[in-house]
Amino acid sequence: MMTIWYGGDYNPEQWPREVWDEDVQLMDRAGVSLATVGVFSWARLEPRQGEYDFGWLDDVLDLLHANGVRVDLATATASPPPWLAARYPETLPVTEVGVTLSVGSRQQYCPSSPVYRERVRELVVRIVDRYADHPALELWHVNNEYGCHVSHCYCDVSAAAFREWLRAKYGRIDKLNRVWGTAFWSQGYGSFKEVMPPRATPTFRNPTQLLDFDRFSSDELLACYRAEVGIIRGRSSLPVTTNFMGFFKPVDYWAWAAEVDIVSDDTYPDPADPDSPAYAAMVRDLMRSLGGGAPWLLMEQSPSAVNWRRQNAAKAPGQMRAWSYQAVARGADAILFFQWRQSAIGSEKFHSGLVPHSGTDTRLWREVEQLGQELAALSGRFGDEAIGGSRVSSTVAITLDWDSWWAIEQPASPTDVSYVQTLFAWHRALTSLGLAVDFVRSDGDLSGYRLVIAPAHFAATDAQVQNLASFAETGTLVVGFGTAITDENLHVRLGGYLGEPLRRALGVWIEEFAPPAAADLQRFGSGKVPALPLDGEVFGGPAAGHVWAEYLRVEDAETLATFTDGALGGWPAVTRRQTGGGAGWYVATLPEPVALRRLVEQVALDAGIELPSAVASGGQVEVVRRGGSLFVINHGADDAELLVDGTDALTGTSTLGMRLAPQGVVIIVPVHVGDGRDRAAL
Ligand code: GAL
Repeated sequence: MMTIWYGGDYNPEQWPREVWDEDVQLMDRAGVSLATVGVFSWARLEPRQGEYDFGWLDDVLDLLHANGVRVDLATATASPPPWLAARYPETLPVTEVGVTLSVGSRQQYCPSSPVYRERVRELVVRIVDRYADHPALELWHVNNEYGCHVSHCYCDVSAAAFREWLRAKYGRIDKLNRVWGTAFWSQGYGSFKEVMPPRATPTFRNPTQLLDFDRFSSDELLACYRAEVGIIRGRSSLPVTTNFMGFFKPVDYWAWAAEVDIVSDDTYPDPADPDSPAYAAMVRDLMRSLGGGAPWLLMEQSPSAVNWRRQNAAKAPGQMRAWSYQAVARGADAILFFQWRQSAIGSEKFHSGLVPHSGTDTRLWREVEQLGQELAALSGRFGDEAIGGSRVSSTVAITLDWDSWWAIEQPASPTDVSYVQTLFAWHRALTSLGLAVDFVRSDGDLSGYRLVIAPAHFAATDAQVQNLASFAETGTLVVGFGTAITDENLHVRLGGYLGEPLRRALGVWIEEFAPPAAADLQRFGSGKVPALPLDGEVFGGPAAGHVWAEYLRVEDAETLATFTDGALGGWPAVTRRQTGGGAGWYVATLPEPVALRRLVEQVALDAGIELPSAVASGGQVEVVRRGGSLFVINHGADDAELLVDGTDALTGTSTLGMRLAPQGVVIIVPVHVGDGRDRAAL
């Protein structure tokens, strides 16, 4: 049996002892199988430096164990107690404008602080010594959401650490000067001592300094994580995780994913945003991809409303369940929440919990019980019908690289581009056709894919462009605007953007950028960027692009769409070059959603990927195949009707002609697996 875990963050230290007994009774009713304990317990575990109090945590773990709940034990290092700052004020983080962040909230530590790291070591050694053999333990949870509030620290301690990092990277100051391009604006350094973190400056800061500081900041947090993991691995063989935060810009999760035993994620889609299901689908695909396709854990989501948006919408009835199944469909083997019991104190008291303020005679609690019972039943499936442990397979991938994300969103760039929104546009077009999508690094192994899309891969290494260009020899490569404009040091690739070897692989190069004009922006007043008219058979006729445009020069490719208006009128917008065994496409703008979907359809056909046949009509249906099961989820406001036959694993009923209400979910088995298409047995 492969368990699909159910439960969430459990913070009993906020409650009197008698509540704990009720907690475990309710956990049993809800089918809770995993509780994350101790995330914010440092002040309780070490109330004064060197004075430890583990008695209460012993009781919590024993109680959970006696009631059959497994434990994801946190190392409690996410939020230092006030004594740390009182005694060692240099552990407090400082912002780029020089503001010191104080105690009284959470996460107030400088990641580079040797004092913080030493106090962490002392604490974690004790926690691990004490609990490594506790029978309740299932998993270690290191820190919490690294970088969530303080991802970059600009204090003097960080400045010294940054200089050490730079010294290790460059060795000599003249190398740093060359790579940072300090010949510009009289920025040349005489020694490493003169180098600063990119604190507030009169105007634009050095781009490569900024990029190196992003890399350094991600590495410093990773060093904190590694130090804790080292202690755990010395004494315990249980798996280790730390919770990621979806597309979180400050931390390069590719580097981190290699160091966790299982990927876990915290996701809080906004119930008020109609794009949330599509965006959450992308986040879940990233989590699966970070773990190389292995099952991952949805570590935190909210049962209903959060408390940290300006307006905090409650989830609609059934939405918690529908979004949970979306995660399972896309590879999650755990549905966990923040948090078990809704707090009565503190700044998260209006954040929903599995046990709401109003108790168990509530809509929410009934949904909590239902979901727990369903997941327990699904956990019992095995063989071809097993869901837990099974995989999602994909022949399509989108490249994602943190360097390019950091680089393309720097100030003093051609225009304002959101890297993630650009990826989202492509991902959404693909998933709306029913295709499963992975994310890959652009220098990763692409051999398992038929179609690879590289959008806005701005700061590219030679190895990355070579890898992409080689892929185009056998597969279908689509390169989106803003790619390979610079190398990894943010030095422009001269002689026509894109540069070799992509220029040869795609048969095009870029002469000049022409994003929608600022004057138009002012004229439109609303901040709405004007669309750029396009035409071409790949779009089935007139269409529009937005965000970006380029003067594209074609050397050895077929033009499939052109810009039709203004200065760009007549210039190519989409090209395709046939290669030996594949094709290289180039797209010089971001086509609007309907046009992008049509384009993606053509590209998929070009790659020999058969599009899945319709599984339902009506509603707003998401269809995902995982292992031998086909998940169908209706995110829309209207009923959908299922067009395929099979058995719903949740209810045991036959699915052909079934009406799927809004927020409805069916898991169809068996799925006809022969042709690789996402449909149930027809
Ligand atoms: C997460 C965090 C939790 C809780 C939650 C509220 O960022 O890990 O501790 O604060 O948000 O949504």
